[in-house]
Amino acid sequence: MSADYGDNRPDLSAFWMPFTANRQYKDAPRLLAEASGMYYRTVDGDEVLDGTAGLWCCNLGHAREEITQAVSRQLATLDFAPTFQMGHPLPFRLAAALSEFAPPGLDRIFFTNSGSESVDTALKMALAYHRARGEGQRVRLIGREKGYHGVGFGGISVGGLVNNRRTYLTLPGADHIAHTFDPERNAFSRGLPDHGAEKADEVERLVALHGAETIAAVIVEPVAGSAGVLPPPKGYLERLRAVCDRHGILLIFDEVITGFGRLGEPFAAQALGVTPDIMTTAKGITNGALPMGAVFAHRKVHDAIVQGPPAAIEFFHGYTYSGHPVACAAALASLEIYRRDGLFTRVKSLAGLWEDRLHALRGKPNVIDIRNIGLMGAIELSPRPDAPGARGYEVLVRALKAGLLVRATGDIIALSPPLIISEDEIGKLFEILGGVLDGVA
Ligand SMILES: Cc1ncc(COP(=O)(O)O)c(C=O)c1O
Repeated sequence: MSADYGDNRPDLSAFWMPFTANRQYKDAPRLLAEASGMYYRTVDGDEVLDGTAGLWCCNLGHAREEITQAVSRQLATLDFAPTFQMGHPLPFRLAAALSEFAPPGLDRIFFTNSGSESVDTALKMALAYHRARGEGQRVRLIGREKGYHGVGFGGISVGGLVNNRRTYLTLPGADHIAHTFDPERNAFSRGLPDHGAEKADEVERLVALHGAETIAAVIVEPVAGSAGVLPPPKGYLERLRAVCDRHGILLIFDEVITGFGRLGEPFAAQALGVTPDIMTTAKGITNGALPMGAVFAHRKVHDAIVQGPPAAIEFFHGYTYSGHPVACAAALASLEIYRRDGLFTRVKSLAGLWEDRLHALRGKPNVIDIRNIGLMGAIELSPRPDAPGARGYEVLVRALKAGLLVRATGDIIALSPPLIISEDEIGKLFEILGGVLDGVA
């Protein structure tokens, strides 16, 4: 079937695409034209099951009527209003609503427009916190190898993916602890892997190297997403929390992917039982409908910074669009759906089936590891000799032809469907993917 989307064969040359092999893509473009519920439709009219919630963001499924209505009402009522020394009711209402779902104490909320901005905001908060408390020498920021924290200079500095770093300058104070990926001991783990909690002690190594009094914060994704879904080893996050506490170092969780229900609780902090001092979010906050991010700060962080003469600006940071009215409207409508439809916790009832169906792909050609937690999963394929990434890319292309959208990073196939996925659709997703894997040499 071929639908009429009018301009469905645009000139592709002017758009310089992000994180894309531009020439390869433009030679064989893949264009999506519509979306509703669990499905996209391509410009050719083919239906595609969304196995990735867009890009880890459309947790409620696509084209939710309540969000559409709220956005169009808001656009007609108040399209924009500044939030620098001015205000409008929506970000206040949204922050209050978000604080109800926040991990204990993290109820002071700063708005951004993306995950990258949330990360840079959180890093600045950490520096401002220590300075406000008279420890301005704490300027080191510790990330983790294989971490992804967006593309700002702060985020790439604490990030640990080499291609995102090698071309650019990074902050001089940044350092890294080792990643937790350990296929020899943990391959085909279901949920949290058994081995590797001791890797949290890497922070002690950096304390011994730099001095605790120079370190402001440690930032990690509770579950590394972009590196290919790496759940934390059992006990790892608890140990990380303890070592940070021991040395007065702030712990930041980057929950841009894990936030908003992906693990069966509003945030991974709650699902995994470890509370950070600052939490970064984006994506699912508006169900991907409009760009927005939010940084959740512990009250102790907020209160340390927001002090001094009442007429003085306390935190010299913010974006023109922090608390944008239309994004707030989309977020408030999304929160209402999460709450009303029990989607923050729905994953708990699907996770067992998800895990079983995912791990049933073990034994398919070239599969060397399978990992999962909540409604996230990854299948790692062995790379072709001399062509790393080619096998993963072929799976992506063939899956799309077969009616399934997956994410391929190198030879890792990552899955993160909308949280509204039905049991039948989980079955369909793995049936398609299993068939595709069978056909890729
Ligand atoms: C953990 C994490 N942090 C930050 C980001 C960056 O978010 P954005 O692309 O909205 O800037 C991402 C994006 O996938 C992410 O997964």
